[in-house]
Amino acid sequence: MSDLLFLNDTDFEQYRALIYNESGIHFTETNRSILESRLREQLRDKHLESVKIYYNLITHDKETLKDFLDSVTTNLTRFFRNQAHFDALEKYIVPELMKIKKDTGNDSIKIWSAGCSTGEEPYSIAMVLTEALPFPWKFDIVASDLSLKCLMTGERGFYSENHIEGIPDYYLKKYFDRVSGGYQVQTDIRSKIRFDYHNLNNDSGLRNIDIVFCRNVIIYFDDAAQVAVIRRFWDAMASKSFLFIGHSESLFGMKTPFEFVKTQWATFYRKSM
Ligand SMILES: C[S@@+](CC[C@H](N)C(=O)[O-])C[C@H]1O[C@@H](n2cnc3c(N)ncnc32)[C@H](O)[C@@H]1O
Repeated sequence: MSDLLFLNDTDFEQYRALIYNESGIHFTETNRSILESRLREQLRDKHLESVKIYYNLITHDKETLKDFLDSVTTNLTRFFRNQAHFDALEKYIVPELMKIKKDTGNDSIKIWSAGCSTGEEPYSIAMVLTEALPFPWKFDIVASDLSLKCLMTGERGFYSENHIEGIPDYYLKKYFDRVSGGYQVQTDIRSKIRFDYHNLNNDSGLRNIDIVFCRNVIIYFDDAAQVAVIRRFWDAMASKSFLFIGHSESLFGMKTPFEFVKTQWATFYRKSM
């Protein structure tokens, strides 16, 4: 079986060009073995014999291509990942947005969790905002990803014992129901989030977003794809809005009008205009 699956240089180039053009995800020579192992799984599942047959299939059928792209994503996430970002959200950004919007008659905050994986990030945001925003302030969250499997998990809002680590006890008791095998996010919190398929390679059509979380996503893109996605965030964001990226990601060296903000809690970016 493994002989048939051997990804020669031409195959590798073809696959990585396809993945890059479709999603911005950049497979380097160093992570070639990861691509090989994901392909091996796909071929096994689909009872196919060669990477060439599979390539033909995914380039002729949009749904199979989606499935393939899903299989090459890295979906690692957890509740309250990088707690400092949630502290900055609560202590700096919420008061700041309330000040900015005070006289506009708009008491609603729009958040986009881009590359939300299985939902831990948007649910963490939702819990923090529920606590931080006084009546009559409202918020809604769009949570998007190109992994349909992840989106389904997020939408369901069920997390097993080993996935709830990181949720403070207070939140766990208040916003989750204990159910067999794990915890279920309560309806009130779930109703604040709309999970939606979206490939960051395309314009989302979203506009006037106040806060974008896109953490640990662009790390898988090359420079050109990063610039393109950051530009799309700019277009989607309201004037005077905020952008979080992962702590090992940076806009440093990128020509972008986003301003770098350093607070006592965390660093992030601001669109001032
Ligand atoms: C490592 S997870 C990060 C999840 C969460 N943001 C966090 O920081 O914990 C990266 C997510 O980005 C998604 N992703 C990668 N490329 C994407 C693209 N082009 N469009 C949309 N989502 C993408 C993956 O499917 C994956 O779920």
